Amino acid sequence: MIRATAAGKVILCGEHSVVYGRPAIAVPVSSLRTTAEVQPLPPGSGVHLIAQDLHEQTWLRETTDEHPLGKATRLVLARLQAAEPDAELTLRSDLPIAAGLGSGAAAAVAAIRAWAQFLGHPFPPSTVSELAYEVEKLHHGTPSGIDNSVVAWEQPIYFIKGLAPQPFRMPRPLHLLIADSGVRSATGQAVAEVRRRWQATTAEFEAYFNAIAEIAAAARTALTEGNLPALGPLLNENHRLLRRMGVSLPALDALVQAARAAGASGAKLTGGGMGGNIIALVTPATQETVRQALLDAGAVRVWTSTHSTPR
Ligand code: MEV
Repeated sequence: MIRATAAGKVILCGEHSVVYGRPAIAVPVSSLRTTAEVQPLPPGSGVHLIAQDLHEQTWLRETTDEHPLGKATRLVLARLQAAEPDAELTLRSDLPIAAGLGSGAAAAVAAIRAWAQFLGHPFPPSTVSELAYEVEKLHHGTPSGIDNSVVAWEQPIYFIKGLAPQPFRMPRPLHLLIADSGVRSATGQAVAEVRRRWQATTAEFEAYFNAIAEIAAAARTALTEGNLPALGPLLNENHRLLRRMGVSLPALDALVQAARAAGASGAKLTGGGMGGNIIALVTPATQETVRQALLDAGAVRVWTSTHSTPR
């Protein structure tokens, strides 16, 4: 049996504006993972695909290219010029779906890694990311590529659409809480909504995107210099702009406010918004108080996530 896994992710700043060519920063969430296992089946079976969390199973031959797991499988077979094997892939995940934590990218990356390994040709991160990007297009037509990149490299990245991701190191550990509003929201819908508003009021949205681009640049400096106190206000300002863009919700704003009031130095929604999760910047000293405040404010789950890039 072959097993491969992939991490979730959070966007620290720059979601949505990254679709329009502005920079964004994402970090992997290595403690929340999607696992893909491949087992051989009797000759002549073909490929069987099981998405355990979705309670779905199907044969590859019954899927179209609109099926993410089917597409991921076909992309690997085409890249390796391999015939369809007789095998079953089972996918299961710690990540909530449609919650801004990269569940789609993690599923694609885990499946691509598992098939490549099963077929005896493990791919480098660049190939995994390239193929996962093709699957991401199913979730929304114009992905920036940040999700598949941060998941495939599993490193903090500064990302600009169309360019190679720029991994960076953080001399100080970053302590985040990730709090789930419990409201599900497909990234595709949020991205489409922002596009509609950008088309209607282009100058206003371009100004938001430019302001967020400056936040992303300043955040990279803060992170690479270990100046975490400078990061909190940047996250807060990014959330304010995302609210103006219309991708927050009262439930997300309530969590953000609760985190700040309980001592988080910054908090914002993360990912596509209109539901999903918020992140709060904490320290080991504030972590427990903020976690409790988030639960009291209605978070259905709170994860603790520490990010460090030790030398
Ligand atoms: C989704 O994690 C981030 C968005 O910016 C979409 C994208 O970059 O493709 C909302």
